[in-house]
Amino acid sequence: MPLQQKHLLGLEGVSAADITAILETARTFREILERPIPKVPTLRGQTVVNLFFEPSTRTRISFELAEKRLSADSVNFTTSSSSVKKGETLKDTIRNIAAMKIDMVVVRHQSAGVPLFLTRCVDAAIINAGDGAHEHPTQALLDMFTLREKFGRLEGLRVAIIGDISHSRVAGSNIRGLVTMGAEVLLCGPRTLMPREVERFGVRVTHDIEEAIAWADVLNVLRIQLERQEAGLFPSLREYHAEFGVTLPRLERAKKEITIMHPGPINRGVELDSDVADADYSVILDQVTNGVAVRMAVLYLLSGNEESVG
Ligand code: CP
Repeated sequence: MPLQQKHLLGLEGVSAADITAILETARTFREILERPIPKVPTLRGQTVVNLFFEPSTRTRISFELAEKRLSADSVNFTTSSSSVKKGETLKDTIRNIAAMKIDMVVVRHQSAGVPLFLTRCVDAAIINAGDGAHEHPTQALLDMFTLREKFGRLEGLRVAIIGDISHSRVAGSNIRGLVTMGAEVLLCGPRTLMPREVERFGVRVTHDIEEAIAWADVLNVLRIQLERQEAGLFPSLREYHAEFGVTLPRLERAKKEITIMHPGPINRGVELDSDVADADYSVILDQVTNGVAVRMAVLYLLSGNEESVG
């Protein structure tokens, strides 16, 4: 089933039907990834450019693997070895790459809005792999896929997102996607890291980690962006851990099993303790595994290829 949009710029405005189509297609790809030869010819002849202007481990490798598993031709661009270093503009960079006949672009950039800007420069389908503090839609989709696989549903699930909500593109996309899919969302973090009037997105807010843990089925713990530390938005990493850290004693006090998620990379001992990150109720590595299948689904559905996935 084709999607209602040509690009994936974010989850704002993406319908429940489109999110469900991506998650259902990803289930098929997840099964294919378990085969002895986890590869299908679905995107043979299509060319994907991975345009990463910011560091990435999980997203970049996950997209590259997804493209290889689909038999697409893929090309990787990194700023440090490109003509951006010689002052070439973003518009010239993308138009020159597009002139080599490409079908899709996966882009990560430090500035919000770059994926949308690229849609105005070239005809290729654009996939946002994280733009500034705006959105990271494939992360939210893989988070929702992981929850759907574990709980069998998203509707009514209680998901608490913990940490730096203001600067988190993961939170931005998760809030939009989860609310669209009927989950209940609670945001928890310091007042200085909470956007004003965020409740208008249909979420609740608390500044009490114990309340969030008591309420939630799932904690999605965000990375404390250490660079924010210099901006004085919280007193110290030690104090952040004391006030908002997800620790074993705090989880034990809740007397119930809670599913732990984290998009990575983790600051162990800051937002999340190691014994919690590595516990059997943590699905952090499942998120990473599922990310390949979800990205295969996004690439396939945006490619316009209507053949069966194989
Ligand atoms: N979750 C995530 O975006 O991780 P990377 O920055 O390593 O891609």
